[in-house]
This record gives sequence, structure tokens and C-alpha cells, in this order.
Amino acid sequence: MNIISNKTIKPKIIHFESITSTNTYLMEQGKRGADTWTVVIADSQSGGRGRLGRSFESQNNSGLYMSILLRDVSGFEPSILTVIASVCISRAIEELTGLTMSIKWVNDIYYCGKKVCGILTEGAFENNSLSYAVIGIGVNISVPENGYSDSIKDIAGSVFDSYSTELRDKLASLIVQYLYECTNNYDHGSIYSEYVKRSCIIGKIVEVYGNGEPYNAKVKDIMNDFSLKVVKSDGTEIALKSGEVSLKM
Ligand code: BTN
Repeated sequence: MNIISNKTIKPKIIHFESITSTNTYLMEQGKRGADTWTVVIADSQSGGRGRLGRSFESQNNSGLYMSILLRDVSGFEPSILTVIASVCISRAIEELTGLTMSIKWVNDIYYCGKKVCGILTEGAFENNSLSYAVIGIGVNISVPENGYSDSIKDIAGSVFDSYSTELRDKLASLIVQYLYECTNNYDHGSIYSEYVKRSCIIGKIVEVYGNGEPYNAKVKDIMNDFSLKVVKSDGTEIALKSGEVSLKM
């Protein structure tokens, strides 16, 4: 595994050919005291997990499946780490491909209307403060040999024409490097403006899934705290902190 290791960042890289979920493994390792910037990469996952209890398809030779453990992050909420990660991943993909990525609030990266990356940030709390966080990143590098499964084939896209472990590791390395820079020297203004610039959701009608019945709303803005300001059909404005919105195409 050839991930950058320079004087400012010395990630500990753990590689698996196959694992259930890099996030599940690393959350467990976090409990056992694993170091900050431990990075786990798997060639495939049999139980890749997404947000809201969904699964994340993780076939062999087609994606980057990576989790990163961060300690000393009590200044960040997990949702902000997801936002920072989405900017860093977009930057890294754009640098290697020359393509422009879009971010769908809050944790998905899209290219040409297809989802190419999902992020799952999980945190362990002690005395109400974040003890460590695991940022899980799944990037569809290329279409799997036998295609995506029926359940995602209409919504999944990829960012390269073909897959190699060298390419995957280069992408992983860039993401880790950007994440290190952005979390160690957090600049809210530049992360906010990069996030908003890439947002593909402002001005669109979305379906909002919260605690009650789903409803349609128009996205007005992404606020300074990264909440999503939407306007309901009766004119009421709501700032969504989390939850799920689906784009009405
Ligand atoms: C989502 O789309 O809701 C988030 C998907 C996150 C997938 C990544 S792949 C590496 C890491 N391990 C997991 O089980 N999930 C994350």
C-alpha cells in the first residue's frame, strides 16, 4: 500500500482483501485505543454500510472503500467532518480526473446526475464530547465487471473508465492529505464556499424525510452551519440539520 507518509502525517495503513465493513472494524479498533489517522482500506466489503441503515455496494476491483480514524476532534461534530470530507474527496477526484463533482447535501457526491461517492461518519462520545470519529468513504472508481446490482444501477456512477489498485491508492492518499490539512487548519469560510459552490441542490424541489410524513420543499440555501434551508409549499421556512432529502428530477 503506497500511501503518502511525509513529515506532517504518518497514517497507519491497514489493508484487507475483504472485510465486512471498514467502518465497523475501525470503530471497534477505536474502542481498543487505535491511533489517530489509522486508515483502513479494503478491496471489497461484504457488509458495506451507508447512512440510515442502508447498505453500500462494495464490489471487488471497482471502488475505494476506506475508513479513517480521527482523535482530538472534539471541536467538530460528526456532521461537520462529513462536510469537510465531501469537499476533500471532491477536490481529490477533480485533481485526478479533471471532472467537476457536485455535492448533494449532506453526504453524497454526484457526477452527471449519478452518485459516485457516499460518506458515513460515525462518532464515539465520552462525557458528551466526541472521543473519536471514523470517516467512512466509498468511491465508485469504475463500473464493476458485472455491473452494479439492479437496485442501484440507475443511480450509481463512477469517476474513472477503469480500476487499478495504484489509482485507488493515489486517490486514497490525496483524500487523506486534504483531510489532514483541512482538519488541522480548519478554515470555515473556504470549506463553506467550496461546499456551496459544488452543491447541486440549491433552488431544487426535494422530498424531505424526517420524523413525520415526507413532504416536498424548495431548497433556498445552505446556511453557514451547513443546515439546509427549505421552503414548504405553505411558505414556512425550515432549517434541516440532518435527515434525508431526495431530489425530485
Ligand atoms: C452512504 O452512501 O450513505 C454512505 C456510504 C459509505 C460507504 C463507506 S465504504 C467504506 C466505509 N465502510 C462502510 O461500511 N461504509 C463506509
